[in-house]
Amino acid sequence: MALNLEALGKKIGPVTKDYTWKDAVLYALGVGAGFSELEYCYEKNLKVIPSFSIAAIFEFLSHIGINSNINLAGILHGEQELIFHNPIPPEGSLITEGKITHYYDKGKEKGALVVGESDTYHSDGKKLFTSIITIYSRFDGGFGGENAPKKEVVFPDRDPDFVVSASPSPDQPLIYRLSGDIFDLHVDAEFAKMAGFKMPIMHGLCTHGFACRALIQSLVPGESEKVRRLVCRFTKPLYPGTPIKTLIWKTGEGKAVWRVVNAETGKVTIDNGIFEYGDIPEEKIRFDGRVAIITGAGAGLGRTYALELAKRGAKVVVNDLGGARDGAGSGSTFAADKVVDEIKALGGEAVASYESVSTPEGGGNIVKKAIDAFGAVDILINNAGILRDKSFIKMEPESWNAVLDVHLNGAYNVSRPAFAVMKEKGYGRIIMTTSAAGLYGNFGQTNYSAAKMGLIGLMNALKLEGEKYNVKINTIAPVAASRLTEDVMPPDFLEKVKPEFVSPMVLFLCSEKCPVSGNIYNAGMGCFNRVAVVTGPGALAGSTDKPGTVEGIMANLEKISSLKGGREYRQLNDQIGDVLGALSKPLEKGVPAVGKQQSTVSVAGIFEAMPASFVKSASAGVNVVFQYIISGSGGGEWHSVIKDETCTVKTGKHEKPTCTLKMSDSDFLLLMSGKLPAMQAYTSGKLKIEGDIMKSQLIEKLFKR
Ligand code: NAI
Repeated sequence: MALNLEALGKKIGPVTKDYTWKDAVLYALGVGAGFSELEYCYEKNLKVIPSFSIAAIFEFLSHIGINSNINLAGILHGEQELIFHNPIPPEGSLITEGKITHYYDKGKEKGALVVGESDTYHSDGKKLFTSIITIYSRFDGGFGGENAPKKEVVFPDRDPDFVVSASPSPDQPLIYRLSGDIFDLHVDAEFAKMAGFKMPIMHGLCTHGFACRALIQSLVPGESEKVRRLVCRFTKPLYPGTPIKTLIWKTGEGKAVWRVVNAETGKVTIDNGIFEYGDIPEEKIRFDGRVAIITGAGAGLGRTYALELAKRGAKVVVNDLGGARDGAGSGSTFAADKVVDEIKALGGEAVASYESVSTPEGGGNIVKKAIDAFGAVDILINNAGILRDKSFIKMEPESWNAVLDVHLNGAYNVSRPAFAVMKEKGYGRIIMTTSAAGLYGNFGQTNYSAAKMGLIGLMNALKLEGEKYNVKINTIAPVAASRLTEDVMPPDFLEKVKPEFVSPMVLFLCSEKCPVSGNIYNAGMGCFNRVAVVTGPGALAGSTDKPGTVEGIMANLEKISSLKGGREYRQLNDQIGDVLGALSKPLEKGVPAVGKQQSTVSVAGIFEAMPASFVKSASAGVNVVFQYIISGSGGGEWHSVIKDETCTVKTGKHEKPTCTLKMSDSDFLLLMSGKLPAMQAYTSGKLKIEGDIMKSQLIEKLFKR
C-alpha cells in the first residue's frame, strides 16, 4: 500500500476533544508531576502543562496517519514542534484542524516522512497551539519524492546551564497511557517482543512531558504560560524505570536548546530540542484592506462600529438616511457626512451613502457605492433601525410595514447584493441586528419584535448558503444608549450603556478570526452571552403507530414541554434526522423520544453479509485467514478465508489465522459503519491485532462497506 499523495494539502478535521481538569491532572501525573508542582495537579488555580497539547490532539494525529495511508506496522513519532499562542485552559473543548504539508522520501530501504501541521482552538475561540508532527514510516520509502531538508540544532560547546534529573517510575506508561495513547507497545510484554523490544517501552511523549516540566522549572519557574515553542526529535526508546537527565543550554534571550539522555548509559533519547519562552505577544485584530458597509451608521451603535473598524484599518461605507427616529421624513446627508468627517480626521478612509435600506434599489446602491469607492465588500453590518411602538390593536399597517421595511426587508435588500460579491470573492462577514424585544418579547413592540426575529430566520438559512464560500453570518442583540432607547432607559442608566460596550463583539464577529457562523450574541454593559434556540427531547403522547390524542397531550404536557437534555440544531435536517432516528426504534410511552438512536445492524448480520461485500477483483493472489474475536453481548467468533479469489465466512476459531482482530461489539459496529476509522481504532487500542499486522490492512481493500 502506497502513501496517499492525493491527501497532501487537503483539510483534515475539525476534530473536537472535550476535556476537564481531571484530564489535565491525569496527564500531569503521567509525566511525573506531584506535590512539588501542585499547580499542575490540584484543580484549585490549575495550570495545564503546555505539552498536554500533544496528548490532547492524539485523535487528530491518528487522522494524519489514516489520510496519508501510512503503513502503520512501521511508524514512529519522528519529530514534534509545538508553538503556543495562549495557555491551555483547565477545561473545555479543543478544536483541531490541519493538513498534511509534506511527504519526504528517504529511499526504499530507509522509509518516508509524513509531516502534518494543525492549529488547535479552544471552545472559547482562542487559538491555543500549532503542532507540526513528523511521522517516520519505515516501509513507505521509495515513492520518488524528494528527501527532507537537513535540520541541525547547534549545541554550545560547554557544560549545560541546567541539568534536571528525574526517575520515571517503572509503572509510568500505565499512568501516561490513560491520556490517550493506549497502544499495546507500552503495556503488553508479548506485543513489545513482537515489535523487537525486550519489554514494553516508555511513550516518547511521556519523556517529552518530563522534559517540558524540567525546562519550565529551569527557565520560567511557576510561569508555564510563558512557554512559546517546544521542538524535539525522538531518537531512542527508553524502558520504564530508566532514570533520565534533561540537559539545557541557554542560547539567548528567551531561547534554549535541550536534549534528554538516559542517565545510566548517557545515550540521547530526545535530541535537537529547542525551547523558546517569553510573554504572549498581543495579537491585534486588524481590518487592513477590508471594505465594510454599516447601515444606519450616522449615529448610535452604527457610528461606533464605523469608527472602530476604520481605526483598525477598514475602508468604510457610512450609510445613513438621516431620518427621524420613526423613519418619517425624507432624511438628510448630515448624519452620514459627520461620521465620514470623524473617520477622516482620525486618518481613516470612508465614504458616505444616503440611501434608504428599505428598498431593493437602495440596497443595491449602497453595495455599488462600496464597489465604486473601494472595489469590494468584505463586511456588512445590517444596523439601520427605526421604532414605531404601539399596542397591537393600534398597530395599523403603516407602522407595521414601516418597521419591517427597515429592519427585515432592509437587511434583505442590502445583504443580497453584498452576498453576491462575497460569494464571488470567497470571503465575507455579515452581521444582523436583533433585539431582546424579539428574542424574549416586549409589550407594545409587535412590529419590531417580529422584524427582529425574522432576522434570525434570515441568518439561519443564509449561514448554510454562505458556509461553502467562507461567508459567516452572525447576529448581535445590543443594549446601548442611543436615540432609539433614550426614553426607554432611566437617565442614570444611560451613562453606563455606551455603544463602545457592544462594539468589541461586533468587530470580532466581523473579523477574519471569527470561527463561528449562525450564532446570536447579547452584548451590552460589558456583558456578552450567547442566545440559542433549543429543542427539548420530547415525549410520545400516544404510540408510534397511532396519532396521539388531545388527552395524551394534556397528560404528557410537562414532559413534552421540558427542555432538559435539549439540543441546539444547526439546520433543519439534523432535527428531522433525530426524529426519524427515534421513530425507527420502539419507544416507551412518555419516554423522551428524540436523540437516542440505536443501530438495528448486528455483528452476526455483518458476518452473514460479508461474502456479498467481498471485492473479488482486489483478491488476486491473496491467501489469508482473518480471525475475528468480538467481545460483548452481541459478539462471538468468526473467521473468513480468502483464497483463490473467493471468500468464505464461518463461525468459530480457525486453526491457523493469518491475523486475529479483537474488538468489542459496539466498536466493531462503528468500524463497519465507517464511523470509526480503522487506523484510529488501532492506535486508540479499540482494535487489537495479533499475527501479521500488515495483512490486516488488506481488509479495507477486500470488502466494500
Ligand atoms: P439609532 O437611532 O441611534 O441609529 C439608527 C440609525 O439608523 C439612525 O442614524 C437612522 O438615521 C438610521 N436609519 C433609520 N432608517 C434607515 C434607513 N431606512 N436607511 C438607512 N439608515 C436608516 O439607534 P441604535 O440604538 O444605534 O440602533 C442600531 C440598531 O440596533 C437598530 O437596528 C436597533 O433596532 C438595534 N437595537 C438597539 C438597541 C439599543 O439598546 N440601542 C437594542 C436592541 C436593538
